[in-house]
Formats: sequence, C-alpha cells, structure tokens
Amino acid sequence: MARERIVTPQEQEEEQEVSWGLRPRSLDECIGQQEIIESLRVEITAAKQRKEPLDHVLFHGPPGLGKTTMAHIISEEMGVEVNATSGPALERPSDIMGFLVNLSRGDILFIDEIHRIPRPVEEFLYTAMEDFKVNFTLDKGVYTKPLPFKLDHFTLIGATTRAGMLTAPLRERFGIRLHFDFYDDPDLKRIVERSAGILKVPVDEEGAFEIARRSRGTPRIANRFLRRTQSFAEVKADGKVTRQVADDALRLLRVDEKGLDKLDHALLKTIIEVYNGGPVGIEALGATLNEEVDTLIDMVEPFLLKIGFLARTSAGRRATPSAYDHLGYASPANLFSGQSLASPTLKLE
Ligand SMILES: Nc1ncnc2c1ncn2[C@@H]1O[C@H](COP(=O)(O)OP(=O)(O)O)[C@@H](O)[C@H]1O
Ligand SMILES: [Mg+2]
Repeated sequence: MARERIVTPQEQEEEQEVSWGLRPRSLDECIGQQEIIESLRVEITAAKQRKEPLDHVLFHGPPGLGKTTMAHIISEEMGVEVNATSGPALERPSDIMGFLVNLSRGDILFIDEIHRIPRPVEEFLYTAMEDFKVNFTLDKGVYTKPLPFKLDHFTLIGATTRAGMLTAPLRERFGIRLHFDFYDDPDLKRIVERSAGILKVPVDEEGAFEIARRSRGTPRIANRFLRRTQSFAEVKADGKVTRQVADDALRLLRVDEKGLDKLDHALLKTIIEVYNGGPVGIEALGATLNEEVDTLIDMVEPFLLKIGFLARTSAGRRATPSAYDHLGYASPANLFSGQSLASPTLKLE
C-alpha cells in the first residue's frame, strides 16, 4: 500500500497554492518572519534610493516556509521581472545561459534548490554573479575558444533547504543571506485566518488555532490542512470549521496531536524499535523505511529536531525521551535498567 503523505511533491503543491491565490504579494501582506521582512525592507529601500539592482539574495530553510513566495514579492517590490528555474533543471552552462542573456538590468533570476546545480554550472555562475560577465564555450561547432559575453546587472535569488551543501565560494557571492525558521502558532493562526478569508471558509478562532498548531510550523501545510478541513466541514458538518471539525478532519488525514504524520511516526518507531533508540545513520534509516534520504532530511527531520523528538549526534540520529513518551513507549532510561518495551499505544494505528 502506498504510504499516505502530508507533503506531496513540491511542484504540485506550488501549483495548487498559486491557483488558490494564497501567496502574499507584498511585504505588508506577509505574516511572521519579522527579521527577514525587516532586512528585506531596508535592502529594497536602499537599492531603490541608490537606483541600483538588489544584491544577490540567498534564502535557506525547510520547505514550505515562504522562500519562493519571498522571491516573487521582491520582484513586485522592486518593480522588476523575475525568471524562475531550479538547480536540477540546469544541467549544463548552456541551460543557464538562456536565462542570463534575457535578463535586463535589475531583473531577478530565481534558482530554487540551488544546492543541486552541477559543479560546471556553479563555476559558470561565479563570474556572472561577480562581474556580470561570462565566458561561454559553445557545446558544439567550430568555436572552441570561450566567447566573452557581457550581462546586464541582474539579481540572483537562490533558495535552498540545505545551506550546508552549498560550496563556500557560491555562498560567499550572495550579499544577503537569510534563514527561514518555522512559524510560531499565533503567526500560523493568522495565516490560516487570512487564507480562510481568501478561500471564503467560515472558521472560528479555535478551529483556526487547531489547524495552526498541528501544521508543523509550516504555512504550506497549514494551507493544505485548511483546504482539506474545508472539504470535510462541507461534507460531514455544516460547513463551518470549528475545533472539533478540524480535529476530526486532521485525524482522518492521520495527523496526530502534535501534527506528526505517518512518516514521522515510522521514522521514530524505526529508531526506537529497530535501532534501540539510536544512534543510527540517516542512510540506514532510509533503507529500513524504504524512503528517499533527501525526503527524510528535508521534510521529516527538521521539525522533529525543532520539537526535540530527534537529536543529531556525530554518530547519527537518536530518539529523545519525549519521542518515546509521545509514541507511548516506556522511556529509554527504563530500557537500560532491563525492562522491556511497553506495548506501544500508537494513536494513529
Ligand atoms: N509570510 C507568509 N504569510 C502568509 N502565507 C505565507 C507566508 N509565507 C508563505 N506563505 C504561504 O506558504 C506557501 C508556501 O510558501 P513557499 O514560498 O512556496 O515556500 P518555500 O519556497 O519555502 O518552500 C505559500 O504559497 C503561501 O501561501
Ligand atoms: Mg519553494
């Protein structure tokens, strides 16, 4: 049976969000991420005053927190065009050349998943970012010598879930580097209320809060839960999203009290049952769970680390006592004193 997933493929989610019209379009419309918004406000105002393009910007942080949204907001606020692509789509320098030559002064090139660009493309970007010049060698044909090519002064915005995978030379070429962290519950509640307004979903305070607090600090998940709860409310209740309706809808989606889904549970259970609580390497976990390591690192681990259910040590991942507790296992301290595992009372099974 295919595993039910909260986080469906990113492109699919992005398309849905765009069609739902939930993306904020200006800095003023954004909720939360105060530090990022204030920094960008200053940089955008300064660039406009100097009549210069914005410095290159790097956004890093877990998926669904607003990196792509913010790139589009910057283009709106600066009044420039944005061209979007992604790391895996840029296989050769010629792939990025097409974007670069079409950028006018001040325009934005947005590269999502920038940690996944191949090394030759990355090296090609260095001079483009620094001197707005490239030496372009045609892949085929009579010219074997690189042709120098002058570019307009553009702004590169890169987004990545793995800042650590960027090489230092690339990272250093971004003048503005901003980290997106998970949203707190009050901010997420405001996001749910804003989205409910746009989608015309009647939702009361407690209903909005219930969705918010189970959305793993992530607006993308909050919007998706709101949408699913809306359907549930229309079919199973009187259309209004109350705390009870939200709870029933989320339960049906197999989202637990803390917002953890089946994959979160599977990961923690595996560490606890198969690896005695850890430490265990991520590769081994991926193999045991039959799940992509990238998915575990990007979509699953960050929030479990954030809420202290998972600890990362040099030897690998460990489940913490809170994780044992949440999943209904006897705490690990008891394990070491010779007691066997309590029979787990998993809420989701
Ligand atoms: N500051 C914000 N305020 C309100 N909604 C937001 C905010 N940031 C993101 N969102 C919502 O979350 C969704 C996911 O954001 P996105 O930019 O696609 O995340 P990322 O690129 O980091 O994966 C957006 O479509 C938008 O609806
Ligand atoms: Mg994105």
